[in-house]
Amino acid sequence: MEMSFDFDKRLQDSEDKGKSSFDSFEELKKNLGDIFSSAGSKLGFVFPAGNMEEKEADGDNRKEKEFVEFIKKIKSFNMKPREIRDFLDRFVIKQSEAKKVLSVAICDHYNHVRRCLWDEKSSQTEYNKQNVLLLGPTGVGKTYLIKNIAKLIGVPFVKVDATKFSETGYVGSDVDDMIRDLIKAANGNVKLAQYGIVFIDEIDKIAISSNFEGRDISGRGVQINLLKLMEESEVNAYSQTDMISQLRVAMSFASGSVEQKQSINTKHILFIASGAFDRLVDIVKTRVGNKSIGFGFNLSSNDQDEVYEYLKKVSTADFIKYGFEPEFIGRLPVRVACEALKADDLKNILISSEGSILKQYVEDFAGYGIKFSVDDDALTEIARLAANEKTGARGLLTILEKLLRDSKFELPSTDIKSMRVTKSFVADPAKALSNLMRKRSMPKTAAPSANRVKKHTKKMKQP
Ligand SMILES: Nc1ncnc2c1ncn2[C@@H]1O[C@H](COP(=O)(O)OP(=O)(O)OP(=O)(O)O)[C@@H](O)[C@H]1O
Ligand SMILES: [Mg+2]
Repeated sequence: MEMSFDFDKRLQDSEDKGKSSFDSFEELKKNLGDIFSSAGSKLGFVFPAGNMEEKEADGDNRKEKEFVEFIKKIKSFNMKPREIRDFLDRFVIKQSEAKKVLSVAICDHYNHVRRCLWDEKSSQTEYNKQNVLLLGPTGVGKTYLIKNIAKLIGVPFVKVDATKFSETGYVGSDVDDMIRDLIKAANGNVKLAQYGIVFIDEIDKIAISSNFEGRDISGRGVQINLLKLMEESEVNAYSQTDMISQLRVAMSFASGSVEQKQSINTKHILFIASGAFDRLVDIVKTRVGNKSIGFGFNLSSNDQDEVYEYLKKVSTADFIKYGFEPEFIGRLPVRVACEALKADDLKNILISSEGSILKQYVEDFAGYGIKFSVDDDALTEIARLAANEKTGARGLLTILEKLLRDSKFELPSTDIKSMRVTKSFVADPAKALSNLMRKRSMPKTAAPSANRVKKHTKKMKQP
């Protein structure tokens, strides 16, 4: 079916609808002044310098330009799931299933947004959102996957941490705030924000907990508020606690102008949630354990492949047992487990991920004119030690920091211009560093020849 899209009409529509009912800042200023003087108040207040009307007009123009840009971007977005996966492969090692699921979800979302923009009727029809839930051990790339996806996305995107929500919003944030954050990410353009993507990290932290810890956070309440958003609800574009917006609304009433409906509908917003769900494996094991593995299986076994196998088998019932409302977890229908990272994977991250931490070390040392390199067998050893940390790729940073802390402190003050990490350096960094420093402080004739050093300095593969 041939579909047409009239840019001019859309632009005209958006200009007509987009006009603010807050007529002018001068009016707001005058009204406030009247209120203060009629109350006999001696209080004064300072308005920011500059002509606010002009600024508002500039802002409106900017928003409209952005909206047209956004539509162009959506129109020209022609990536296929495989291409998104290939992009993610440059940064994230392993997690092929998660990459597949996310790539498809992003492409589907784009296609849906495009349909809605092309044809108003599509946005009114029933649409089942494919909200995604990522789960798996700590430090294996769940958040990192989304961070990299965010680089590709032309639609507004926000990342929020579920730990900051509270049911009432008195202590933490109100869940609606994340939708308002989406409006901010869309530079105030509500229409644009309606097609955004919200990533909620640490979702497992809002599971209903059996022991009350005295915080004003009720997992159940937060879940109920969240599930309404995930389905479809209208969220006020202005927060009840945001003084400036409230003042503007009040002033528009005072000036007799009717406040234009300023709310955002969440029907088309895609939600991606992620969490480590540390107790979940045990719940799945208890449910399927003996049946699938057979008699004598050790439930406390911690084999990483087994953990992944169990996570792949997770069911809605397991999430409910974990502390989620059925209605909540049901609104995250696409679930995908991330794999634990073994020593080989960690080495691979160091060598081939474009976001490798080694790159940072190379740059840090280069800042002092020191050439930094790591031998291959040293990389193997670093990866092995990092895997023992059981914190995923975060273990790499822990190990490297421990290994190189003194070198980073001492070497910049010496005339040493190259730093090579060998396997023996990893085994005893303090000794290796003092040897290096001693050699350099020896008279030139006794020091190893430049050629010898060069021969031994294996060039580190640039990650
Ligand atoms: N698979 C991976 N490939 C490359 N780098 C990775 C991978 N996993 C993690 N990293 C690195 O480790 C860091 C931490 O990973 P990330 O924040 O994604 O962990 P997570 O899975 O979200 O853990 P948590 O459940 O604790 O939040 C990332 O910023 C990235 O540098
Ligand atoms: Mg994370």
